[in-house]
Amino acid sequence: MKTVIIILVICLVAAIALAGCCIFRKRNTEATIPMTAKLPGKAVIIYYSQSKVGNTATIAQWIQKHVGCEMIAIELVEPYPEAYFETLKAVGKERKEKTERAIKPITVPEDCDIIFLGAPIWYGTHALPMATFLKSHPFAGKTLIPFSTHGGGGAPLVESDLKAACPEATVLKGFTARGSNQIERRLNIGVTSHHTEDDVVAWLNSLF
Ligand SMILES: Cc1cc2nc3c(=O)[nH]c(=O)nc-3n(C[C@H](O)[C@H](O)[C@H](O)COP(=O)(O)O)c2cc1C
Repeated sequence: MKTVIIILVICLVAAIALAGCCIFRKRNTEATIPMTAKLPGKAVIIYYSQSKVGNTATIAQWIQKHVGCEMIAIELVEPYPEAYFETLKAVGKERKEKTERAIKPITVPEDCDIIFLGAPIWYGTHALPMATFLKSHPFAGKTLIPFSTHGGGGAPLVESDLKAACPEATVLKGFTARGSNQIERRLNIGVTSHHTEDDVVAWLNSLF
């Protein structure tokens, strides 16, 4: 009897959690607010996205949809494993040993003055492949706009780390969104759980 009650309570809690997900979280929707931002120059989006669901890639696509510029993905010569915990282990080892994975060569268009830089948050800041990319691209004189997705901890160090990596660039206010997992994606809950395309457009409008 006791076991049955425990199972019933677990089912009830799971049902409430699922209902909460469906009711309170934003769903993927097309943008409903107009893009009013007028960018004062040519832009390019450069991003890295690692997980299977590609949260940061999705934000990059939303930005591209409204800004209408070229988009370049940072790719690793030897990608991280697909499984989350294996990636955590590999990244933890690289941080400890101060090693990094090589990235494939990227040609950044020279006539772009505005660079959107996107990455998942790893340990409070942009993921290691973005840090590797920035070492050979200090973007002096350019305007940098960071965006990221995270697992709940926000992006506390992105802007300061970007300023440190690119001291002669101007860094504008970034955008960060909580990433969603595979179950949330299947339920068509907002790509980023708590954010929609409208949030990206509102942020772009606030910049320019
Ligand atoms: C190695 C590693 C470290 C992470 N560190 C953090 C963190 O410090 N804070 C956080 O909120 N999420 C963290 N996450 C979660 C990712 O930021 C989150 O899942 C993100 O949306 C993944 O983006 P992607 O789909 O573009 O790869 C980490 C994930 C990995 C794999």
